[in-house]
Amino acid sequence: MSVRIYALLFFTAAVRISDAQPVNQDESKVPAYTLPALLKTSSGEAVKSVTDWERKRRPEILRLFEREVYGQTPGTGMPVSYQVKSVEKAALGGKATRREIRVQFPQNKFMDILLYVPNDARGKVPVFLGLNFLGNQSLEKDPQIPMTASWQRNNKGLGVTENRATENTRGASMLNWPVEYILSKGYALATIYYCDIFPDHADGRDASIQVLFPDNKVPQQEWGAIGAWAWGLSRAVDYLETDPAIDAGKVAVLGHSRLGKAALWAGAQDKRFGIVISNNSGEGGAAITRRRFGETIAIINKNFPHWFAPAYKKYDNREDDLPVDYHELVALIAPRPVYVASASEDLWADPKGEYLSLYHAGPVYRLYGKKVLDSPEAAPAQQPVSTDFMGYHMREGGHDILLYDWEQYVKFADRHFK
Ligand code: GCU
Repeated sequence: MSVRIYALLFFTAAVRISDAQPVNQDESKVPAYTLPALLKTSSGEAVKSVTDWERKRRPEILRLFEREVYGQTPGTGMPVSYQVKSVEKAALGGKATRREIRVQFPQNKFMDILLYVPNDARGKVPVFLGLNFLGNQSLEKDPQIPMTASWQRNNKGLGVTENRATENTRGASMLNWPVEYILSKGYALATIYYCDIFPDHADGRDASIQVLFPDNKVPQQEWGAIGAWAWGLSRAVDYLETDPAIDAGKVAVLGHSRLGKAALWAGAQDKRFGIVISNNSGEGGAAITRRRFGETIAIINKNFPHWFAPAYKKYDNREDDLPVDYHELVALIAPRPVYVASASEDLWADPKGEYLSLYHAGPVYRLYGKKVLDSPEAAPAQQPVSTDFMGYHMREGGHDILLYDWEQYVKFADRHFK
């Protein structure tokens, strides 16, 4: 099954719920809105320099996303150990070394990093890091990759019953992870099954890594699954920093859809991510929520009550009251390179709104003297646009992450990591 079909399941559920809340996919019906001012502090002071941004406004915005959107991410102070679970030095017909590393947290919680490193690399290599939807075994049809034992959504097509992955999931995400292509361009690839970190269902919390933080409970600001997934991405960087094959100063984090939301939030909080890439992340990710185009806050909170902090529900049907919008999430990544991608048929994720977050984050990149994307119109499908520090493309087609998307990410990463 590709991510496309997987996402469709949720899409249909959402459309049903939307009987009560009409989904707008008509640009002429986007209401007039005013975005929260990026370069003005909450007390009304103008932000005129990098120092003002970094000392005053950036921390303010970060706090607002914690308080009102994703919830608070706890610190890291816990014992963690790394165990190599498997090694194959001749993976991909000898082109790569494949390892699986278990990141062992207390209370028997863990996440498994599947890592491919090109065998022809000279010295440390840059790496793409992203969470996957179906388990590490879904990247390749290779019986040696251990099958995930973590919770999985039941799926008739894949024969997943009782929430356990089956052999049918082996290689099921190959189209989404063109491993050979990525390695042939001189990058390593690291991925983790997202349900190792937080099983993606409304009652997933008790089986998630969140139980390691019983005190992280400021009312209304408890972190949701997106916060947990982002935390897991940072723990993966902790590991990559110890791996002699990897240049941990060159980690590009990316994610598709809900995992794109997690990649953006991870990139906003943790400056070790050298490039941040959002693929079709939509509502609660790159899309400007005030546009109310496609999925809305009310719909996402209803369908996925476990993704965000409880506080986010205050903004159901009240987008204009949210003290932030998602251009500010992108701006938190500045001055690091950021890339946003849409798909032309993925109206649910609001391609135009995804582009506009990037566009409206521009003033912060400009503070740092970086060239920005200065057209308020999203580029047409199959015509990527970029400066050194901002990139965008709209792939022709539906909600998915495919080779075309990866080709653009590799080109963009090459500018910084090569
Ligand atoms: C649903 C959801 C989106 C999400 C997507 C996915 O469509 O409404 O917000 O991005 O699933 O993760 O595939």
